[in-house]
Order: sequence, then C-alpha cells, then structure tokens
Amino acid sequence: MDRILIVDDDRSIRELLSMHLEERGFGVDSAGTGAEGVRMAERAPPAVVVLDMRLPDASGIDLIPELKKHANEAPVLMITAHHDMATTILAMKAGAFDYIHKPIDIQAFDVALDRAMEVRRLSKGSDYLSVEAHRGFKMDDIVGSSAAMQQLFKDVGRVAASRATVLIHGESGTGKELIARVIHSYSAAQKPFIAINCSAIVDTLLESELFGHEKGAFTGAMQAKAGKFELAEDGSIFLDEIGELSSNLQAKLLRVLQEREVERVGGVRRIPIKARILAATHRDLAEEVRANRFREDLYQRLKVVTLNLPPLRERPEDIPILVEHLLMKINQRLHKNLRRVPREVLAKLQKRAWPGNVRELENVLTRAAVLSQGDLLLEEHLVEQKASSRSETPAAVPKAEAGVQATSDRVQTLDEVERNHITRVWSLTGGHKGKTCQMLGISRPTLERKLRKYGLANGED
Ligand SMILES: Nc1ncnc2c1ncn2[C@@H]1O[C@H](COP(=O)(O)OP(=O)(O)OP(=O)(O)O)[C@@H](O)[C@H]1O
Ligand SMILES: [Mg+2]
Repeated sequence: MDRILIVDDDRSIRELLSMHLEERGFGVDSAGTGAEGVRMAERAPPAVVVLDMRLPDASGIDLIPELKKHANEAPVLMITAHHDMATTILAMKAGAFDYIHKPIDIQAFDVALDRAMEVRRLSKGSDYLSVEAHRGFKMDDIVGSSAAMQQLFKDVGRVAASRATVLIHGESGTGKELIARVIHSYSAAQKPFIAINCSAIVDTLLESELFGHEKGAFTGAMQAKAGKFELAEDGSIFLDEIGELSSNLQAKLLRVLQEREVERVGGVRRIPIKARILAATHRDLAEEVRANRFREDLYQRLKVVTLNLPPLRERPEDIPILVEHLLMKINQRLHKNLRRVPREVLAKLQKRAWPGNVRELENVLTRAAVLSQGDLLLEEHLVEQKASSRSETPAAVPKAEAGVQATSDRVQTLDEVERNHITRVWSLTGGHKGKTCQMLGISRPTLERKLRKYGLANGED
C-alpha cells in the first residue's frame, strides 16, 4: 500500500485529507509539526508528502529538501494560501512538485496527487534515457544514428575535403545552417564563415550586402563598404534561403559565380573572390526551375554537390540521441539538470510529426526544461508549439532572433528589444506569469503592465 504523509498544523485539514486518502486506498501518516513530519518520513518513507507552507516550528519551504531526503525524493505537494504567490514561487524553486490552494478543493487535490504518483512511478522506473554531460559531445556537434544521417556524415566528410560549392536542402529546422557550419569547420576552420539570409532583406539592400558598395553609390552610402563575398575572404560564404533570391539578383549572382569576381554597387573595380560557396534552401529548386522561378544555369552552378537533410518524422530513430544532445546543451544554457527521459516519454516524442523538425524539438525541450523541476522529463512538460500552425515559421522564437540578426543594419529601439525579450520568455514558460517574473527578475505588477503595454496579453489571469 502506498503511504501519504500529511504535515499540517490545521487538524481539520489533516482529518479531511486522511479520510479522503484512506477512502482512496492509501495509508496515511499525519504530523502537526515539521519535526514530527521529518521523523515520520524517516520511519516510513511515504510515496508523496502533502506539506503546509506555514508550520508552528518551521517554514514549509525550508522543510522541502529535508523531507525529500528522508522520503527517497518523494514528490512534495504544498498547501498554500491564495494570496501568497511569491512564497509559492519560492516553494517551487525549492523543489516542491506542485501546490494546491486553501481552501482545499478535493478534485484539484486528486489531480495533483495523481500526477505526483505518476511522476513517482516514472522516477522509480529504470527504463529511461540518461543524459550524461561527459559523453564527449561538443555544443555544435551534429548527431544522428539513422542510416540517412550516417550517410550524410560521410558525404560531409567528403565535401569538406574539397572546395566544391554545396547546396543544402531540407525543411525548416532540419539543420541546414548547422551542416554548413560543420562543412566550414572541417575545411577552413580558421577562416571567416559569413552567413547571409537572402529572404530577410529587401533586394537593393541585399545586393549591397552581398557585393558591397562604393561611397556615394546611392543615397545614404556615406562610406564604401565591403560585401559579404569579400568579407568571407578564403573562408566560406553561406547563402541561406537562396530559393528566395529575386531574378535580378539571381542573374548577378550567376555572373559572380562564373567569373569569380564581384563588382561593388556603384563601383568599377573587379574584386576577385576566393570564398567557398555554401547555399541552403527549404524549396525544391528543381521544381522552382521547372516553374521558371529559378534560373536553370544558376541551379546547375550551385548543385555541384547536393546534401539532403531528411525531415525528422522520417527518422524517429534519431530522436533519442537528439534528445540527449539537445538536453545537454539546454541544461548547460539554462543551468538545469534534466537528465532522465523515461522511455515511454521518448516513445511519445518519436510519434510526433515535428513540422518544425529539430528546431521544434529543441524548442519543446527548452520549454520543458523551464517548466520542470528535478531531473525527470515529463510528458506534461512537452507542450505542443502554438506557433507550429504557421506553416513557414514553425519555431517563432528563434526565427524572431534570426530576423534581428539579418536586419542588423537597423538598430532596434529599446522597446522593441524589451518586447522581443518578454515575448520570448513568455512563450518559453508557456505563458506562466510566475515563472516569467522569476526569469525576468521583475514583479508581477510590472510584468502585467508590460504585457498590456506590448499587447501581449490583457494582463489578467
Ligand atoms: N542533427 C543535429 N544534431 C544536433 N543538433 C541539430 C541537428 N539538426 C539540427 N540541430 C539543431 O537544431 C536547430 C536548428 O538547426 P538549423 O538552424 O541548422 O536548421 P535550418 O535547417 O537552418 O532551419 P531554418 O530553415 O529554420 O533556418 C539548431 O539549434 C541546430 O543546432
Ligand atoms: Mg537556417
């Protein structure tokens, strides 16, 4: 029989809960003080602890670690007062599993208890993937165990040895940029890697970004500026989203590739280029050529070597190693300790469609890391991404970031930066105000004011 330990100085609550729990078939121990609770936990380790926030001899928060230690890490459910949100957050930080408000609603209590029992079952189980920090992964490694990825690694090794132009094709979030960086790092690691997103800026600006411009080439061109091709020197230039290039720029790019020379906008000098060209697209360029949206001759120049990144749903066998790798990265970044993934949770992840591919998986895991306590990844933390319904940008958060970098010519206002940052944290926490405040280090009224100001929420619960 599973035992539940209740630690509360309010006798009526102890009696109410004992009666209810016994009816549900649990064994119950109850204590009126912290010291007594710890003694009981030592004598008969409970499956779950129900703990009042305020006790005559101790604060519930301080008791959490001690109780957990004596109760084999049993989940702790806190009983809190409604108005006491700040303390509730502290309790969650101290390792409480969940909280229920007074006056106790038995249904809500049962829901929290069932979750706690489920977590306990999972954490007692031995069938999980464990994330080891010292497996020799590097942060920017690319991992995959599927046949398709293994083949890709071989191809990468082969092309890295050459200076051939590479066209990388794959759906959004499959790792196109990562592959480009890996190719670069195996072939010209000490040389510059210059990335430019061909879809993020308007045509005229893109032209001068790519090829540079001379002083006075157009209104506002106060200084001469080197283009990305020049800046890449004898390193690599990464032309991201090349399928979005206008026909005008397609023609200009073709000439550059044919002649291995660029001319700055408004200039006459011909500047030789030595950079290796890496290009990526989520489009089927052969199809774009057939539809007359992409130049055949340019396509032929680009596809000297083509690497195809398969979508994640076609290689579910990569999910365990990706989860392990991504969690290691996320733990380090967020100072978290999410180290155990139950096999049944992993199986659920393998069944998802992942329209946003590895990036979506990374976002889902990041959110889970923010939401979770302890070291166990739980299914309830794996929130589907709301933004994934927007087809082209399955991952709203990093896309926004990419946009910021790509349009680096325009300086953002402080309000924009603040709005972006709040949006990001707000979406990371799944719209949880307490956690958002905690992460941003601001008070709840401040958060609510800012949410209203930026039209992110109506500022009410
Ligand atoms: N095989 C992999 N191993 C490890 N990390 C990966 C792998 N594939 C993708 N990632 C990670 O997933 C995220 C998305 O990858 P990346 O930005 O390279 O995708 P992309 O194809 O360029 O996406 P988009 O089309 O949205 O720009 C990155 O954080 C990257 O490090
Ligand atoms: Mg990309």
